Amino acid sequence: MASVAVCPGSFDPITLGHLDIIKRGASVFDKVYVCVLNNSSKNPLFSVEERMELIREATKDIANVEVDSFQGLLIEYAQEIGAKAILRGLRAVSDFEYEMQGTAMNRKLNEDIETFFMMTNNQYSYLSSSIVKEVAKYKGSVRDLVPACVEKAMVAKYN
Ligand code: PNS
Repeated sequence: MASVAVCPGSFDPITLGHLDIIKRGASVFDKVYVCVLNNSSKNPLFSVEERMELIREATKDIANVEVDSFQGLLIEYAQEIGAKAILRGLRAVSDFEYEMQGTAMNRKLNEDIETFFMMTNNQYSYLSSSIVKEVAKYKGSVRDLVPACVEKAMVAKYN
């Protein structure tokens, strides 16, 4: 049976840290669905459609990656597409508490779907969509932090 994983997130916007996790995940699982979901504690800069388009462009060379979005619970989405795994990246200890809470809740909702964590590549451990937006907002360079299409979209957004 094919192994299917969901790589969920806000992806507002996708960074090279996200892309690293997606690529490495795609080399382990047969199929990875990158799903844009709503994080109720965040106020997004890019629309869901814009975020999906940027992820599509950034992942176009990875054959077993599909980009999607879902309005609702992550666990419902995973059930709908038949995924047995949720894939998340961990950057530092500071991510741990939040991830532990989400993982425990998802397991409570459906104990048949496992969450897998991958340590972010060291070179991206300080990266987040928020810090990248802050730099771009004040006209700093985000080259080497985000895919080229995202850099272009951020310059356009903040001009
Ligand atoms: O990139 P983020 O913001 O850390 O991703 C968080 C996300 C979107 C995966 C999380 O907020 C989520 O799963 N949202 C969908 C609603 C849900 O299922 N919430 C309960 C589990 S946290």
